[in-house]
Amino acid sequence: MLEARSLSKSFPTPSGSLSVLSDVNLSVAGRERVVVMGPSGSGKSTLLAILGGLEEPTSGNVQLDEVNPYALSRTRRARFRNQQVGFVFQDHCLLESCTALDNVLVPALAGGRVDDSLVQRGRFLLDRVGLGNRFSHLPAELSGGERQRVAVARALLLRPTMLLADEPTGQLDSISAAYVIDLLTELVDEAGSLLCLVTHDESIAERVYGCPQGRRVHLFDGRLVA
Ligand SMILES: Nc1ncnc2c1ncn2[C@@H]1O[C@H](COP(=O)(O)OP(=O)(O)O)[C@@H](O)[C@H]1O
Ligand SMILES: [Mg+2]
Repeated sequence: MLEARSLSKSFPTPSGSLSVLSDVNLSVAGRERVVVMGPSGSGKSTLLAILGGLEEPTSGNVQLDEVNPYALSRTRRARFRNQQVGFVFQDHCLLESCTALDNVLVPALAGGRVDDSLVQRGRFLLDRVGLGNRFSHLPAELSGGERQRVAVARALLLRPTMLLADEPTGQLDSISAAYVIDLLTELVDEAGSLLCLVTHDESIAERVYGCPQGRRVHLFDGRLVA
């Protein structure tokens, strides 16, 4: 369960404080899927970063399964992100000199353990995203859609409590985008994670919220409306 209460965020700028989010409240139950929509610059990425323990809010608080990441030490917060949160960004952010399989195993390496069962799971996930014959390809040897499928597999390796996806299909053509998003939602279901996904593509949004556990919210002027 994700609970965000009265979140606000402002950034200091040379011309004064810039308010990006004000009084944002959001509760997402386990296995629920929330699509966050809103115009460019409305604070969608900022909100996701706050929810994922990457960016401390100016006020308000966040709890994931009753843990407030901002009450943890830096080391414990890093561990929290590693184990409880999966991230997929618009750019795949893969390590260029590592194979597809090694990229998928990065969260296990960062968490300090890569045992046989995790390697098995990495192979299973790559297989599930249609890349069973691409284990040893480097990112440069994959298409954009394939790279993003590796990123999805990586984000779900450790079965995170929550998957955060920020315009994950923003750089893909509509056919690859639909394929990536369908795999992402299937694997989120299999992992039992809750999902918060940002997109401004209506057809992608519908694929995610158009199910019983789906819904969407909009960000306007720093406020969240259902
Ligand atoms: N680190 C920062 N410092 C100053 N302003 C920022 C920073 N990060 C984001 N912003 C500003 O906050 C607003 C919201 O940004 P963002 O969350 O990236 O919007 P979105 O993802 O909806 O396009 C933008 O106006 C952006 O310029
Ligand atoms: Mg953004």
